[in-house]
Amino acid sequence: MTTLKAVRGTRDLLPPETVLWNRIEETARRVFARYNFGEIRTPIFEDTFLFARSVGEETDIVSKEMYTWEDRARAQSEKTQSLTLRPENTAGVVRAYIEHKLGETGQLQKLYYIGPQFRRERPQKGRYRQFFQIGAEVIGPPSSGSESPLRDAEVLEMLATLLDELGITGWTLHLNSVGSAADRARYNEALRAALVPVAPRMCADCQRRAVTNPLRVLDCKVPEDQPIIESLPRIADSLDQDSVFHFAAVTAALDAAGVPYTRNHRLVRGLDYYTRTTFEFTHGGLGAQNALLGGGRYDGLSEAIGGPKAPGIGFALGLDRLVLTLQAQEGNPDSAAQQAMDAYIAPLGETVNAAALALARELRRGGLSVELGDGSFRIKKSFEAANRTARRIVILGEDELQSGILTVKDFSTGIQTKVPRAELAALLARPAGE
Ligand code: HAM
Repeated sequence: MTTLKAVRGTRDLLPPETVLWNRIEETARRVFARYNFGEIRTPIFEDTFLFARSVGEETDIVSKEMYTWEDRARAQSEKTQSLTLRPENTAGVVRAYIEHKLGETGQLQKLYYIGPQFRRERPQKGRYRQFFQIGAEVIGPPSSGSESPLRDAEVLEMLATLLDELGITGWTLHLNSVGSAADRARYNEALRAALVPVAPRMCADCQRRAVTNPLRVLDCKVPEDQPIIESLPRIADSLDQDSVFHFAAVTAALDAAGVPYTRNHRLVRGLDYYTRTTFEFTHGGLGAQNALLGGGRYDGLSEAIGGPKAPGIGFALGLDRLVLTLQAQEGNPDSAAQQAMDAYIAPLGETVNAAALALARELRRGGLSVELGDGSFRIKKSFEAANRTARRIVILGEDELQSGILTVKDFSTGIQTKVPRAELAALLARPAGE
């Protein structure tokens, strides 16, 4: 039989790497709490229609990368339903916002999520088919201040703080405004017209995009095409007055808070729901897939999926890429340090196994970390296993059971002592060597 492996583009995360994942998630939860965000958990799969309407039918994500299936009808009278593994979480959050009438509270909703997303992309370093995002959305009725540029700046300031607290150094915040839907449509046509004379000199992908989706030409990385792309019209020149003022207020607030950014005229993002502010944080250490996170404002998204007016802004951070960046900076956590248990209980003979479990239970319920050996092990094997995992070994044989006096060895000093069972927990709680 061929050996079964994790499916291409998916992977197993094992200790000690998962220590790093947990540290990042805990840091994110802590930072989000300081900014008054609450957690939302939406389903892993949704009606396909949701992503078509929000992310956009013509985008790469929806047209090529979704895991979609027809869900069987339960009764003959019922229709099948097209379902899709979520390729991103903003659509699900806005659907939940509408479904639970969160707008009726009149309050700004500040929601964060941590979880897997699925896209059928070509796997490479930093790009997977199941990947993990930490994201957040700020959304509410206009009366809640959800349209204010202050919200954009606050989200960006929070991200800078989060990356700093995680110890990520050398990130760059790229910032742009894509204006209103009308501005974008106008820009799209300006770009299409400007590409007609120059496209024949560009790469094959650009020649195709010039016709099908001109905005995507701005993502091209082919060196020879760069001077041509730099000479194309910029979206900044297609923005209406309101969008210009909005963007100016975002940058003024960032300047006041001391958050550095660079204006990137080519940052139009690959999802259709964006309006006004768009951004990405990149990191040089990541190679081709250098976006650590991306996001922006989506003022018309709620209405596009049948909800009330509810402007919003949010981001999603690629957890896999964050881990890669931290590993490159500081390596994986030390597995020995991770597993310094308080004690290893070594039963001498299988007849004391049950008593050893009872002792382990007592100590663990008292808050100690305890690894439990097995009475079938030779004493040498128990000592080796204990030395690898714990600060102290506790020997439990028939004699110890009878007398209630246990033998404990501290590996850091090599000293062996006898302790009454009643004093065992207190001894094990002490740091090694004391
Ligand atoms: P996105 O730019 O498609 O935006 O994804 C955000 C981040 O997820 C990327 O910057 C990247 O770090 C990570 N990512 C995306 N695809 C992959 C992949 N195949 N493998 C590994 N990491 C990946 C969104 O998803 C929007 N929902 C963000 C947002 C929230 N906008 C407003 N609110």
